[in-house]
Amino acid sequence: MKKRVCLFLALILVASVAFAASGKELVGVVMPTRSEERWNKDGAAVKEGLEKLGYTVDLQFSDDDIPTQVRQIEDLITKGIKVLVVASIDGSALSDVLANAAASKIPVIAYDRLLMKTPDVDYYVSFDNYKVGRQMGEILVNGAKLDSPAKKPLNIELFAGSPDDNNSVGFWDGAMDVLKPYFDNGTLVVLSKQTERTVCGTLRWDAAEAQKRMENLLSAFYTDATLDLILSPYDPISLATLEACKAVGYGSAGKPLPLVGGQDCIVASCKSILAGEQYATVLKDTRSLGAATVTLVDNILTGKPVGTLDTTSYNNGAKIVPSLLLDSVIVTKDNLKKDVVDTGYHTAEEVGL
Ligand code: GAL
Repeated sequence: MKKRVCLFLALILVASVAFAASGKELVGVVMPTRSEERWNKDGAAVKEGLEKLGYTVDLQFSDDDIPTQVRQIEDLITKGIKVLVVASIDGSALSDVLANAAASKIPVIAYDRLLMKTPDVDYYVSFDNYKVGRQMGEILVNGAKLDSPAKKPLNIELFAGSPDDNNSVGFWDGAMDVLKPYFDNGTLVVLSKQTERTVCGTLRWDAAEAQKRMENLLSAFYTDATLDLILSPYDPISLATLEACKAVGYGSAGKPLPLVGGQDCIVASCKSILAGEQYATVLKDTRSLGAATVTLVDNILTGKPVGTLDTTSYNNGAKIVPSLLLDSVIVTKDNLKKDVVDTGYHTAEEVGL
């Protein structure tokens, strides 16, 4: 009997050594939703990259439902993940489950969206969200040539991202810092007077909600005036607001569509840019974000240095979260081929080039 127990224990030991040596540690990756193009790409990039390095990946999508996301993270902790990568739905809603991850000594990486009001997040991998916001503002300044002399006042309406996503703050602040001089000198006018981020926010980045708000703004303030510009923080919002404008006659001869930018460089927006409707977008290459995350996970799990991180920019209300911030690129008709198609981000067929 004793012999058999010893043999059994020896087998377990051999099996666990083999498991560790094969580098097959389990990594949990949780993305907010499948219903937006980008998170599918993000999830796939992180999964593929980690699998290439020999890790096993459990990738979950949370249907934009907070209790689902909490449950998924709990399950992953129970399954024994060694690192958790999470793009939250509501950045402040995961504190309890992240405390459980910390209690199990699982390093946590906030992916693209900062995890707020919790000490239990170890790293943040994203883009420089304030800079992205500045690019959103620059798109409008350059596209509408706001600096040309004797520019007549133009009407603009403002859309912000989801109020529960900390990225929305960076996007808004960056854009507003660029646009402020033009509000101050009267070049830009917001007829609705809706100029607060929370009032202009779009819960869960929901394009249908933005479209409704645009319809309401058009019927309340623009029956006798023309809307010239829209600040949009996200491609599906840009496309939805353009739809609302088309429905009341914009985009026809003598009544051009308002100039709008966006973010995420989704296929539909690339097509719209090439068709001369949406003016521009901000490309945040999910492949680079995925690759940076994969390297960080691997460095953590192999005990290698994690490299130089930004330790000043992102205070989540409980701590400054060491951050790895990537660069983003403005894409217009002029550089879409070079920066989107030639780099393989989307194929020529996908965008219709
Ligand atoms: C933000 C992200 C944007 C966009 C948006 C909607 O957190 O930074 O790039 O994807 O969510 O999904």
